[in-house]
Amino acid sequence: MRDLRGANAILTGGSRGIGPYIARALAREGVHIALAARGQERLEAVREEVEELGVRALTVSADIRLPEDRARLVDRVSAELGPIDLLINNAGVESTSEFVRLDPLTIESAIATNLTAAVLLMRMVLPGMVERRRGHVVNIASVAGKVPLPYDAVYSATKFGLVGLSHAVREELRGSGVGVSVVCPGFVANAGMFADIVAETGVRVPAIAGMSPPEQVAATVLRVIRYDVAEAVVTPLSGRPLLAVSYLSPTAGMAMMRQTGVVDTFRQIAQRRAAAGGDQRSTARGPEAPLSP
Ligand SMILES: NC(=O)c1ccc[n+]([C@@H]2O[C@H](COP(=O)([O-])OP(=O)(O)OC[C@H]3O[C@@H](n4cnc5c(N)ncnc54)[C@H](OP(=O)(O)O)[C@@H]3O)[C@@H](O)[C@H]2O)c1
Repeated sequence: MRDLRGANAILTGGSRGIGPYIARALAREGVHIALAARGQERLEAVREEVEELGVRALTVSADIRLPEDRARLVDRVSAELGPIDLLINNAGVESTSEFVRLDPLTIESAIATNLTAAVLLMRMVLPGMVERRRGHVVNIASVAGKVPLPYDAVYSATKFGLVGLSHAVREELRGSGVGVSVVCPGFVANAGMFADIVAETGVRVPAIAGMSPPEQVAATVLRVIRYDVAEAVVTPLSGRPLLAVSYLSPTAGMAMMRQTGVVDTFRQIAQRRAAAGGDQRSTARGPEAPLSP
């Protein structure tokens, strides 16, 4: 979609972290935005900022794990903004822990948030986009969807799922006028879940990974929509060799992860959380709600 002005977007995870950066980037292009997350107060603050940029914005307090909340989100946006042109599946939770210590409910919740909700929101909005021959879905995955991440195995599994989903559906929609892209950020600095982990546990980011600013993730979201790019990885150049090696040989990639300290960093996070008794919590902050049946 080259011309974004006047388009209507749903942005999940719009309340904090990277989401507000994506919201502001879209608003600067003239996109009207529905911001969804559970925390209403933070959503309202982002809405005010976005409206100041001259677009329409609405907030929908929704737990995207719940079918009724997803339905309410799509219905409200269609009724109040109009046809949905853009869906940015950005909401996500990490669950860094030793896999064998993870609470099964935390596992289900992470899969429901990061993968199931994204799949089903896509399923809800794509028929309308295809009918109008206009629209774009952006799934925010992670480098952990390209390179398996020990001590965040479930997170990694959901992100690999999003990458596969995005490429497969994109191909099905070829020629339909509707695009699907996946954006895979590496570690993001200053805002978001990894910056929170660093603040919580005091770990140091391995040099090979480097960190990217949230503005770069937001700019990449705009770019993949505008130029209909299938996949974009957001990392400093230092992160690229690991991706290339992992692509050619996952075993060699994992050896590189060990040698460069990435595995150690995540082991330390898991251990520090376990020591603090915090690895059993659902890492999704905010009000908890029962999972969808
Ligand atoms: N930060 C990084 O370094 C990094 C790196 C690679 C990929 N990513 C990906 O980027 C995306 C954004 O991450 P972030 O770093 O901005 O995370 P974050 O700061 O933890 O924010 C997560 C967002 O998702 C929302 N959310 C979580 N569970 C939800 C639920 N059940 N229903 C509705 N909304 C929910 C949160 O709002 P509420 O809690 O109020 O609901 C919040 O707005 C995620 O998909 C993440 O995996 C992040």
